[in-house]
Amino acid sequence: MSTTTKPISFARGAPSLDIVDVAGLRAAADRAFATDPAGMTGYGTAIGYPPLREWIAEGHDVDPARVIVTNGSMQADAFLFDVLVAAGDTVIVERPTYDRTLLALRQRGADVRAVELETDGIDVAALQRVIEAGARPKLAHIIPNFQNPAGYTLSAAKREALLALGREHEFTIFEDDPYVALRFDGASLPTMVSMDADNVVYASSFSKTVCPGIRVGYLVAPEELIRRVITIATSTYISPSMVSQAIVNEFCRSGAIEHSIEIVKAALRERAFTLCGALEKELPDARFTRPQGGYFLWVDLPSGTDVSALHALAAERGVQFVKGSDFLLDGGESSCRIAYSGVTPAEIEEGVRRLASAYAEVAAP
Ligand SMILES: Cc1ncc(COP(=O)(O)O)c(C=O)c1O
Repeated sequence: MSTTTKPISFARGAPSLDIVDVAGLRAAADRAFATDPAGMTGYGTAIGYPPLREWIAEGHDVDPARVIVTNGSMQADAFLFDVLVAAGDTVIVERPTYDRTLLALRQRGADVRAVELETDGIDVAALQRVIEAGARPKLAHIIPNFQNPAGYTLSAAKREALLALGREHEFTIFEDDPYVALRFDGASLPTMVSMDADNVVYASSFSKTVCPGIRVGYLVAPEELIRRVITIATSTYISPSMVSQAIVNEFCRSGAIEHSIEIVKAALRERAFTLCGALEKELPDARFTRPQGGYFLWVDLPSGTDVSALHALAAERGVQFVKGSDFLLDGGESSCRIAYSGVTPAEIEEGVRRLASAYAEVAAP
């Protein structure tokens, strides 16, 4: 990379600063410190900051006893896996899926079975075949909206079918849903937890709607499971960050969050549109499905394309992306994940031009 080439990252699933409501957060922090200094500066307890827990419970129309608020949803995922997944347990994941989920499950010695992800969500018929062949899953990890890394969304029919399969074969569905609020096209679908509160554990986050640095996420689950998670949370950190959660509480209750979500969605829509247009123009070999929300686009290049080599040549041109193979147990060598959340439309156009130039070098005989 020449010293004058500005780096462009399609790698990080994070928002650019221009779509973070910094002024709104400062104002929320000011109000939180003024109204509840004792509540937010004390340790608190592992359930999270009680007013935020209540706000989340209201949004999901559940009793607050079904909610725990954590330091980011990654922490919620880790607690949940600690409670539900023992070494040797079979866990279903989507193929491809979030790389950190794969890592967390492998660290716990789970028997991870990846089931193909289609453009309308996990292949439920294939999952049924896996079960018929003898698998006894304990848990199925599903990212239903604007999936990371593929950007796809689970259809309403597949939500029903998956819930029915879970009930029939007695496995829990883990609905990992940080992108749900970021739909910029089409109609929203009901969450699976709202359709079957007893067999679904739901996680979401304020990372994508407020900002990731605030580190606030949560779980909604049956009360008995939440009690077990609270025990682990207490011994891990006594309590999560009350300061962060009190700020998020103010941000949510004042309505600033709705404004923030509108800003983020408008930017993501424009970025996704620009990215798809640039790929069609500069890299016509790329195959992809236009996302209806979220941060990510999954790109398949012609079979045999060496995406590792493309990754290195793109890096020389100052462009980063994540190789598809990072999101799979095997395969994905000719695919990549492009995150458009942290780049402006102008950067996207320039980034795709550089990517196309790297691709021309890889594809050359
Ligand atoms: C599917 C999925 N789950 C969980 C997380 C973690 O989010 P948080 O920042 O709330 O820890 C992410 C973040 O990218 C994600 O994509």
